[in-house]
Amino acid sequence: MKEIYPELGYRNGELFFEEVPLKEVVQRVGTPVYVYSRKALEYWFNEFDLAFSEVPHTTCFAVKSNSNVHVLKVLKELGAGADTVSMGEIFRALTSGINPKKVVFAGVGKREEELHFALERGILMVNVESEGELYALEKVAQKLGRRAPLAVRVNPDVNPKTHPYISTGLKEAKFGVTFEKAFELYRYAKKSRWLEPVGIHFHIGSQITDISVFGEAARKVANFVRELHSEGIEVEYFDAGGGLGINYRPEEKIVPAKRLAEEIIPVVKELGCHLILEPGRRISGNAGVLITQVLYVKKRENKTFYIVDAGMNDIARPSLYGAYHHIVPLQEREGENVVADVVGPICETGDVIAKERELPSLKEGDYIAVLSAGAYGFTMASNYNSRPRPAEVMVEGENFKIVRQRETLSDLIAREF
Ligand code: LLP
Repeated sequence: MKEIYPELGYRNGELFFEEVPLKEVVQRVGTPVYVYSRKALEYWFNEFDLAFSEVPHTTCFAVKSNSNVHVLKVLKELGAGADTVSMGEIFRALTSGINPKKVVFAGVGKREEELHFALERGILMVNVESEGELYALEKVAQKLGRRAPLAVRVNPDVNPKTHPYISTGLKEAKFGVTFEKAFELYRYAKKSRWLEPVGIHFHIGSQITDISVFGEAARKVANFVRELHSEGIEVEYFDAGGGLGINYRPEEKIVPAKRLAEEIIPVVKELGCHLILEPGRRISGNAGVLITQVLYVKKRENKTFYIVDAGMNDIARPSLYGAYHHIVPLQEREGENVVADVVGPICETGDVIAKERELPSLKEGDYIAVLSAGAYGFTMASNYNSRPRPAEVMVEGENFKIVRQRETLSDLIAREF
């Protein structure tokens, strides 16, 4: 196989995921369709998880990156926990069989109902992001007659040098609290009958490839943990968040997870804490593709548009962040490349999947794969323009199965009666 990413590549000119020619998926399921590879998920999970084997740790997959129950099941079998940000995500994680003791729950705006749900299910800890939330959690715990295990999410004020929309650890971001505030919250929690501070949490951003910032943040947070310890507040879990980037351009080298481990392991070893990690994109990103069909080829004087059947409602990242997703044809093409815009059917100029991209010359009816679409692909899809959301498929060896049916027209209006 001429490999592009692990488990994805060409054989005799045809694009395969594992042993399955993607053309077969399209013939059976249609387009647009998200396709995931079980082996690729396993590859990326293991690459990440094994890098940390030297220390006690739990890899809590960030469910927001890909929340399909079948994806979660694959990861659960490998020992994954779940990083969640809503009741819905906790529900999905538990439905997939993930042990509640491996579930963490973050998010700046948790409703009481959600805190209640989380505590009742006995999750590992709630990552508290504000003073108000701490009081809300205390109230809910008291109502339930159960102590609430928690971590305070601190904002270490480091610059992750990534897209501003996905930078979360800067002072001006809405996430977490300052070290100063965190101290107050831990003191309060320590005294409360209903609160039990068991961990500390930080997450500085996403798609980070400059690894040194992780070390910088971890050391800042570790210093704070030592201050807590000296006041008699012991925290057991050191939750270092997610954010490790991937290579959206296959020709670029991916940063090995080992490099991240080298930054973090010495810090937790010294603290003697149990490490929690929350990778999302790193595990699911390159384990999925979105396949779409070229509906029309529109030529203008000096411009070519490939109009495809997937729009910004199906894959939001390019239009939302100007993100780059590599595109390859399902059938390898010889000959001259063309510079074209790959655009969707949505009635907005911003509905672009790739701008001025050098691509093989394509014809109407051809299929292309949008790569690195396993993370923040389907989970960010919407029904905009009343378009049913795509099907999802899981490949395993020579077989594949539909793991989410394509939505139908009646699904679109089902809640309106
Ligand atoms: N933990 C927390 C608290 C988070 O907020 C996030 C992502 C993660 C873990 C996982 O981050 P990852 O390992 O996937 O980088 N929609 C954007 C990404 C938003 C990330 C939000 N938080 C995108 O498509 O690039």
